[in-house]
Amino acid sequence: MAVLGIDIGTGGSRAVIVDDMGRVLASSTQAHVPFDSPQTGWAEQDPDDWWHAAQVAIRAVLTDGPVTSADVRAVGLSGQMHGAVLLDEAGVVVRPAIIWCDQRTDAQCRWLTDQIGASRLNDLVSNPALTGFTLPKLLWVREQEPARWDRVHTVLLPKDYVRWRLTGERATDVADASGTLLFDVAHRCWSSAMLSAVGMDAACLPRAHEGPTVTGLVTAQSADATGLRPGTPVVAGGGDQAAGAVGMGVVRPGTVSATIGTSGVVFAATDRPALDPRGRVHTFCHAVPGRWHVMGVTQGAGLSLRWLRDIFGISRGPAHATGDPYDQLCEEAAQAPPGADGVMWAPYLMGERTPHLDPHARAALVGLSASHTRAHVTRAVLEGVAFSLRDTFTILEEMGVPTTQIRLGGGGARSRLWRQIQADVYGHDVELLAAEEGAAYGAALLAGVGAGQWATVEEACSCVVRVTETVTPVAADVEVLRTRYDRFRTLYAALHPAS
Ligand code: XUL
Repeated sequence: MAVLGIDIGTGGSRAVIVDDMGRVLASSTQAHVPFDSPQTGWAEQDPDDWWHAAQVAIRAVLTDGPVTSADVRAVGLSGQMHGAVLLDEAGVVVRPAIIWCDQRTDAQCRWLTDQIGASRLNDLVSNPALTGFTLPKLLWVREQEPARWDRVHTVLLPKDYVRWRLTGERATDVADASGTLLFDVAHRCWSSAMLSAVGMDAACLPRAHEGPTVTGLVTAQSADATGLRPGTPVVAGGGDQAAGAVGMGVVRPGTVSATIGTSGVVFAATDRPALDPRGRVHTFCHAVPGRWHVMGVTQGAGLSLRWLRDIFGISRGPAHATGDPYDQLCEEAAQAPPGADGVMWAPYLMGERTPHLDPHARAALVGLSASHTRAHVTRAVLEGVAFSLRDTFTILEEMGVPTTQIRLGGGGARSRLWRQIQADVYGHDVELLAAEEGAAYGAALLAGVGAGQWATVEEACSCVVRVTETVTPVAADVEVLRTRYDRFRTLYAALHPAS
């Protein structure tokens, strides 16, 4: 018996088949058309392209792997959060979806904060109005495209459009709903107070369910399109960060993940909706029933290293054993001392979310002298990204959110040097996992719980998530990097007038 997890990402849709031991039996990723940017800062995708990619990925795992549709007990969905998918009464897409990284809604966020007040926003939806969230996008369409808005009958999040095509049901999960700014995160339901404050009708929203709950069954029509068995149950699943955390076993209070992909995310599971009154971290429901999470985001994490690789011009064919330019850079960086001999990197290549909430922040390399080499600069970049993630740990401490276990994910877990730097900068042991399969894997575990394969999400995680290595901080380096972190924290304010 097996379960299927699907992640509707930004770059592509991924399907994974997982057995009851947690082993991945088949996986397939189908690329999306790159997002369209009709104006600077805008980001739009065609929901039907997600559905198309999902169909291809599902069909591939059912035909290329050892599992057939008869073996799939349930399907779990995950996906990019915050996007606005608008459908008319007949279920036709009204306009391209405005996705998570779109930045057009500055004016709508200011209006929401003025109109409702920052502290009441915290009371109602546990978060400030941020440009990436869904509600400001809806307000933008209502103001700027009234003829289209008049046709809107249903608002869905990206993965829930795929759910709708699979099952014909309008449904979402509480973790993804938390990123809309219309969801009462503390009570895990849509906020009628927020809906009435902005003059919107709850009838346009899908039903919100806990992650492992079955939300509908694969229809005969979508079974034809995907190769799935008609009647296969589809569980609610989770937004990509919450589902990814399930896949890493970050489900109990005290467990925290630090994942460095293009952006960097520090994600802590909590047993209450813990709030930062300054809104520097997001407070969302977890995909685990009865749990919440807080999450801080560094916009330019892995992106910083990619940028460095590209400007140093070593993206193609480096003279190195593994042929991987990142390995070459990290090996060089290991020759520079902790603290990079005074070189520091502020990683704000794409503005910053945590802790500055400043889309206009800019990156900087400071403290250079003629004696510094590429090794120093690379080490400074690796350290600067870790310092920025440390900013979230600092906020978690201020909020009284416990950190007992830190698990590393993404590119930051693959480099030996970067994981040691993270242990030293966080001043804490960090754990590496046997397999890190991302959000689709977490969605598959949620499907397994929904299908009764495991009794709870915690049980699923303790059966399948395995720690393979623990990296311990080196005391002398922790001390050097603590002093450097204090300097790092002065950088943003010092640079602000200059950028
Ligand atoms: C979460 C977030 C991203 C998107 C895209 O707040 O913005 O994780 O979901 O992956």
